[in-house]
Amino acid sequence: MAKLSIRDLDLKNKTVFMRVDFNVPLEPGTLKITSDKRIKASLPSIQYALEHGAAVILASHLGRPKGKPVAEMSLAPVAVRLRELLPGVRVEMATDCVGVARPAPGEVLLLENLRFHPEEEKNAPEFAKHLAEGVDVYVNDAFGSAHRAHASTVGITRFVPVAAAGLLMDKELEYLTKATKNPEHPCIAILGGAKVSDKIEVIQNLLKFADRLLIGGAMAYTFVAAKGEPTGNSLVEADKIDLAKQLLTEFGNKILLPADHVVAGEFKAGAEHEVVATIPAGKMALDIGPETVEEFSIVIRGAKTIIWNGPMGVFEKPPFDEGTVAIAKAVANSGAVSVVGGGDSEKAIQSAGVADKISHISTGGGASLEFLSGIELPGVAALTEL
Ligand code: 3PG
Repeated sequence: MAKLSIRDLDLKNKTVFMRVDFNVPLEPGTLKITSDKRIKASLPSIQYALEHGAAVILASHLGRPKGKPVAEMSLAPVAVRLRELLPGVRVEMATDCVGVARPAPGEVLLLENLRFHPEEEKNAPEFAKHLAEGVDVYVNDAFGSAHRAHASTVGITRFVPVAAAGLLMDKELEYLTKATKNPEHPCIAILGGAKVSDKIEVIQNLLKFADRLLIGGAMAYTFVAAKGEPTGNSLVEADKIDLAKQLLTEFGNKILLPADHVVAGEFKAGAEHEVVATIPAGKMALDIGPETVEEFSIVIRGAKTIIWNGPMGVFEKPPFDEGTVAIAKAVANSGAVSVVGGGDSEKAIQSAGVADKISHISTGGGASLEFLSGIELPGVAALTEL
């Protein structure tokens, strides 16, 4: 169902409450922002609202402070960065997220961490009502938090006249919806990461519409085990082997598993390693091998739509990042519409230097995963329908 967008609204002299996802990584000790990607991702919405005459209240969580103020999880460093990114705009920082004065049109007020109040995560109606006080327009630009049914993402929408999607939210939904509901075929999905159990719903949903599903990462070894092949000391989820068998029986023609593996005796960066077709006893597979990269790349080259979530190997321990980086390059050079979920697959895209060739890199890890499993995100469901 299409949702109201910030573009559909008259914002002149309106007080806009914009839920953003400024859950940025901070360096322990110095509290320096190590990636301002999420702040920059919402700048278009903030600038749009300011240019259209609105007073902008920004609200976000940062970390998991468990319902009480934690100094290290204050949004203060974000206010500093926002001032740099919005030159000429008055950007104030409130000491709390409720009971604070509203900004004037053309100004920005960043509220303190929503999760300093336990009511936020409990989606408590009284708290949601407080957040909504004096608000004319609610905008949700926090795609990364749209899988959370919290007071600032869901509850507040009951107490405001309209609830619209921000420009980032719009863009995320546009790419993810097109790729999953109306993809150009051949549509392929590449899935990696450690565990089948984390991604069962995603696998099941992707298999409904994708023409091929390429599986790498440790989760591939549960499938290798399901085929009755040796897995050595590789990570295998014994209780998911039956499910993997079922999926292989039903969708065997769609699923492509690694043909070779980079194996090592220990789980360590730089560990002595070799490429094998069959995993020997005592060794664990830590990356896909070159033949797999080639086989996967052939499928990737023929695709019109590519959905990718999760690394192909132990990406954080070089040289076991090579398979993931090679797949990142193949996806980037495919010419297909490519949608990449956050986390390690994004890191691979960055370290391969191909981010500008990817159609859309989602700002939401958990949210994009839930979207890919076919679940309607509560923060999206709560927005006003067009
Ligand atoms: C994220 O980083 O994935 C979002 O900001 C959501 O954070 P959460 O998992 O703490 O709800």
